[in-house]
Amino acid sequence: MAVRGEGCYIEDDGGYRLIDVNNNFTALIHGHAHPVVHDAAQCAMRDGMAFGLPNMLEIEHAQLMMDRLRYVDQIRYTNSGTEAVMLAVRVARTVTGRDGVIFVRKAYHGHSDIALVPGGANSRRGVPAGVVEDTVEVSINDIGELTAAFDRLDGKIAAVMIDPMPNRAGLVTVDPEFWQAARALCDRTGALLISDEVIGLRLAYAGAAMSMGVVPDLIVMGKIIGGGTPVGALAGRADVMAALDPLDGGLEHGGTYSGNPVTMAAGLAAMRLYDGAAVKRLNGLGERLRSTLTGIVTAHGWHVRGGGSLFRPYPGHLTPEETRAAHTTLWWAAYDRGVLMTQSCQGALSTPMTEAIVDDVAERIGDAVVATASSG
Ligand SMILES: Cc1ncc(COP(=O)(O)O)c(C=O)c1O
Repeated sequence: MAVRGEGCYIEDDGGYRLIDVNNNFTALIHGHAHPVVHDAAQCAMRDGMAFGLPNMLEIEHAQLMMDRLRYVDQIRYTNSGTEAVMLAVRVARTVTGRDGVIFVRKAYHGHSDIALVPGGANSRRGVPAGVVEDTVEVSINDIGELTAAFDRLDGKIAAVMIDPMPNRAGLVTVDPEFWQAARALCDRTGALLISDEVIGLRLAYAGAAMSMGVVPDLIVMGKIIGGGTPVGALAGRADVMAALDPLDGGLEHGGTYSGNPVTMAAGLAAMRLYDGAAVKRLNGLGERLRSTLTGIVTAHGWHVRGGGSLFRPYPGHLTPEETRAAHTTLWWAAYDRGVLMTQSCQGALSTPMTEAIVDDVAERIGDAVVATASSG
């Protein structure tokens, strides 16, 4: 049980203090209770928590995001990344008049019915067969498989959805060539390219797809843009986002708390602080951590995946089931050594971290990996 957090530290109900590299599943880009983010949220709260009218903070947040992501003209807020993905799929289907959606196998895009399909049989429980039939999965970075999917379902694909570094697919970076192939296939067939940057936005100032030289038709965001409060967003070109225009018979989309001023104020403060220099600094710390950790774990048959401010230690030559078990052992070993990771042992850095803290994290996790590897 978590009791409190401050900066890059979290304290559990036994009074045990850990360095937090879980950061609420990558959302807390500035760690816990950052004073500027906290004050912004508190200040907004004093003027009312939520209104049945749009509010000025929503406009300010949208303006900031559009200044940053120059290729988007409009943005729609939701309460979670899951909702934003649902909306992205519905917009793509409406704009194209088609139903098919291509995902990368094993990638996680939230827990709507369609988003659960690429997760495999276990994730699909309770998902109707019709939803599964509208979904195509391709292996990450397999351009041949992607091209074959378009050929096979000629004229039926509404969208390709790509997470730039899908954790559940192994925290592997999507290659620029794969992005470019997806862009070209979408252009040729009229399908939309959706970049799901609910996590990936932290990797690059103007978004991860853009950093690969590709402009998506729609971008899904969440996590860091809410400054630690619940959030999601869908943004895109005006002609695509026109499907949502309430003045022109737009699609049904609501959310009692979507765009609420507290989330918008916290998000604005967080995103202002996470400027180009902050992104560069945090990515540099990520590089440092991966390099130090790699130096410790390689001799024990493990390697380190990730990029930017994300990392994940991986055992070599194990089956997926053995890997899952090894990650569970590692999670506890890291906890025992004072580091909180995500359950899949993904780590995400936060801006309060320094080089000394990152080196300390690498040493502690390295030691946890060595203990895990020798436990068999
Ligand atoms: C790539 C991606 N898309 C969508 C989601 C869903 O976001 P949320 O948990 O805010 O519903 C997640 C959550 O981790 C995610 O990683």
